[in-house]
Amino acid sequence: MTSVAIVTGASSGIGAATARRLAAEGFHVLAAARRTDRLAELIKEIEAAGGTATAVACDVTSDESVAGLAAAAQAAPGPVTLLVNNAGGARGLDPVESGAIGDWQWMYDVNVLGTLRVTQALLPALEASGAGTIVIVSSTAGFTVYEGGGGYTAAKHAQTAIAGTLRLELCGRPVRVIEIDPGMVRTDEFGLVRFGGDADKAAATYAGVPEPLVAEDVADCIAWSATRPHHVNVDRLVVRPLAQAAQHKVHRVGQ
Ligand SMILES: NC(=O)c1ccc[n+]([C@@H]2O[C@H](COP(=O)([O-])OP(=O)(O)OC[C@H]3O[C@@H](n4cnc5c(N)ncnc54)[C@H](OP(=O)(O)O)[C@@H]3O)[C@@H](O)[C@H]2O)c1
Repeated sequence: MTSVAIVTGASSGIGAATARRLAAEGFHVLAAARRTDRLAELIKEIEAAGGTATAVACDVTSDESVAGLAAAAQAAPGPVTLLVNNAGGARGLDPVESGAIGDWQWMYDVNVLGTLRVTQALLPALEASGAGTIVIVSSTAGFTVYEGGGGYTAAKHAQTAIAGTLRLELCGRPVRVIEIDPGMVRTDEFGLVRFGGDADKAAATYAGVPEPLVAEDVADCIAWSATRPHHVNVDRLVVRPLAQAAQHKVHRVGQ
């Protein structure tokens, strides 16, 4: 029977690439996000490539909406074996001194509480499959802080803490927990969301960087780690572009 994978934040960037890749790997994908028009396009693409997927409108900050995702999972055509908690992002690059409470609130709601809410809702189905996998897309910001990144790094540290705690708590049960920590990934929307739609500021993040990671690189890491034999638990996979040795050490050409 076809295994079912759920991907949150599947309407763009890493989530969309992961949905495409998992469908190509043979999963039936439940692609979840708020923008259903984007999801409809994605489903068409997946089907044109010979895969199967279902769009699910889901806001990870809403209990009711996540309950709807769990109901969709129950109705899916096979055991739910994989959950990819990918929905998230950054808002602002302000120092702690002047960071907007609203930005921090949003980052906590989506990255941290979204992961918690979706994981709680899907854990029974993952466990019932007998071979469940939970992927948490955190970040290198989950273990390194940087100036102006206080709110985002705090939220990603919290996601990393959830991954580690959950792995301990689920020990002995048939659900593994994998944390994926990407460095700099050039996606269309991450920077726009961070800088309130300012395309110049968003582009400056990647200025001169020869080859930042792209969404497909991270999808590759997620798909690889989630398709190892089930007794193999890739606890944490850290992936950066060659040009980024550390948060503060990025090779930029002509800068
Ligand atoms: N890009 C990077 O450099 C980078 C590096 C490390 C880690 N990451 C992490 O990777 C993940 C994906 O990043 P990305 O670069 O692909 O960003 P992106 O293109 O901005 O995608 C973010 C996704 O999250 C979804 N989302 C936002 N709020 C949501 C909500 N309330 N409910 C459900 N879905 C929501 C968005 O969909 P809707 O707006 O349609 O709901 C969108 O599909 C994030 O967790 C990010 O923190 C990114």
